[in-house]
Amino acid sequence: MPPTNIKERLAFLRQELNHHAHLYYVEDNPIIADGEYDMLFQELLSLEKSFPQLISQDSPSQRVGSPALHSFAPIPHRHPMLSLENSFSDDDLRGFEDRLHRFLLDVDNFTYMAEPKLDGLAVELIYENGILSKAATRGNGQVGEDITANIKTIPVIPLRLQGAYPNLLEVRGEVFMGLAEFANLNTQRSKNGEALFANPRNAAAGSLRQLDSRITAQRPLDFFTYGISDPELLGAENQYNLLQSLQEFGLKINPLIRRCSSIDEVVDQYHHLMTSRADLPYDIDGMVVKVDNFALQQRLGNKARSPRWAIAAKFPAVQATTILEGVDFQVGRTGAITPVALLKPVAIAGVTVSRATLHNEDEIRRKDLHIGDTVLVQRAGDVIPEIVKAISSQRNGNEKAISMPTSCPVCLSELQRQEDKAVLRCINSQCPAQNLRRLIHFTSKAGLDIDGLGKKAMKQLYSEGLTQDIPAIYALKKEDLVHLEGWGEVSAQKAIRAIEKSKKTTLNRFLAALGIRHIGEVTAQLLEDTFKSLSALLEADSNSFLDIEGVGSQMAASLSTFLKDEGNRRTLQQLLDAGFVFSQARSKVSTHNLPLNGHVLLFTGKLSSLSRNEAKKKVKDRGGQVVSSLSKKVTHLICGEKAGSKLKKAEEMGIVILNEDEFQLLLQNDR
Ligand code: IVH
Repeated sequence: MPPTNIKERLAFLRQELNHHAHLYYVEDNPIIADGEYDMLFQELLSLEKSFPQLISQDSPSQRVGSPALHSFAPIPHRHPMLSLENSFSDDDLRGFEDRLHRFLLDVDNFTYMAEPKLDGLAVELIYENGILSKAATRGNGQVGEDITANIKTIPVIPLRLQGAYPNLLEVRGEVFMGLAEFANLNTQRSKNGEALFANPRNAAAGSLRQLDSRITAQRPLDFFTYGISDPELLGAENQYNLLQSLQEFGLKINPLIRRCSSIDEVVDQYHHLMTSRADLPYDIDGMVVKVDNFALQQRLGNKARSPRWAIAAKFPAVQATTILEGVDFQVGRTGAITPVALLKPVAIAGVTVSRATLHNEDEIRRKDLHIGDTVLVQRAGDVIPEIVKAISSQRNGNEKAISMPTSCPVCLSELQRQEDKAVLRCINSQCPAQNLRRLIHFTSKAGLDIDGLGKKAMKQLYSEGLTQDIPAIYALKKEDLVHLEGWGEVSAQKAIRAIEKSKKTTLNRFLAALGIRHIGEVTAQLLEDTFKSLSALLEADSNSFLDIEGVGSQMAASLSTFLKDEGNRRTLQQLLDAGFVFSQARSKVSTHNLPLNGHVLLFTGKLSSLSRNEAKKKVKDRGGQVVSSLSKKVTHLICGEKAGSKLKKAEEMGIVILNEDEFQLLLQNDR
């Protein structure tokens, strides 16, 4: 038993150190010198070393990180972590208030909280009896990942609360990285020859999702809290008071939050934040507006994934001018040539931009771009930077026209324009650039998801001449990998095991992994349902593809070209010989009893709550059919953001049109 005075001394040191860390990091008002703090800290470390059984969860020594985990454990959220609906203008904000009034007819006037929307990662911190016991990412909103060890390394996050906290408190907030810290980190990484982070958000995400929290401890992360999972628990009447209480518990709240007594004030604050945003030491991508009163929040309730009582007022994209110095032409998996603008590096809202996508030749002509032009570039949130326009008044006559290549920049074969005229394509199926892209796709998450064979590894194996085609992956031996740069005994062994494991898959997944143009997961499933085995597919009459419901003419043509190619047939045979075994993805039950039987759905626009593929899978699991073009067969058009021309046509045809929320209801209600 350690002597009582040791226990007392340790408790004293912990309390002192936590208190001074709070004054230093949260209040920005230290009252002891750094040297004094270090001395107390050293004393704590040496006492804990002698009496490891006395190390407590809230000891500041826990902030240095602990050895690497194998994976993050799942943590279900007691209350779901919702997201927010977006608005983009003053009118949208007023529209938000109109909806509140329509919902709560008896309320004349709303008080709001306007809070900067930090561009970082949402996390939940669970305090049990005042001690930080668990921390989780948002995950899918229902279940997050256990990142406790990483969160503990963030100095502004208290390990122990102060004041009159409840027994259980689930704090929600945003972990982020400041702009100066981000720039420093990247400078350091560049010196060390490490890959740079694209923006502070990615840097924060990458740091927080480290399996080795000792690495997280080296990263300058910061945190603001903006709420708790269940406001009723604290008995606070409104968001404003809640934030005050959280601050009293020692948590950091954003100093730029404002309470507004009308929507006009909210709009003013939105403009104020938009203009002061450039001077802030961190990235914000908008302002969150919340109905302040919790009783009203309760009455307004939630929609499927977002509350009715809050909205995210996003800021318009940030722009800057720079010089278009050149154009690079990239070859994609299906041979499409994509022009990429090479820009004189320019900082846009704290992030250095040096490349922007140009999509295709039409886009270059439409924007009338020339090499040497001064161009306006914009970055909107996570979106890849894009060129808005050329500033023609800045031209001096030395600008050069951009000419599209006539031959493939990699294999030099002649390029062609096919049915989709905007796109230039390299049609040499043996083109090394396409080959590499196909290999990367095959092993990626969208393909067979072979652990250890990510993009970087595949590029390396390809340039080493080890995997020129897919069958070569299955001929790899541990000895081929062990001596390559960055590989070792363990990683090589793991990769070989993952390769072996990938041979047990479903025909559907395998076909989608091949990356045949127009043949995605959904069509692949239709092919599996129809042919059941790869050999049956290889023997099929290509005219029969069009008979499959859901397979259009482009898909059928692409599949038949692929299957007629001798090289491709050889590849498939080699893979069968390598020992691929296909199981059925799901037993082919009759779809008659399923809720979406008879529904034919077409998607348009971008969905925000799930990917297209997830959505398609959900529909198919419920017996529905998904098609890719508009026809009389279609029963429902599901519209995401930026729905295109399909929407107008579908309206004219009298097809049922559902937005994303209504689509979610269709999935739920029909069950
Ligand atoms: S409230 C149900 N307040 O924005 C309400 N969110 O889509 C949920 N965020 O990633 C969030 N600052 O982490 C709220 N002051 C703030 C916020 C904020 C940033 C993030 C949040 C989530 C996203 C909401």
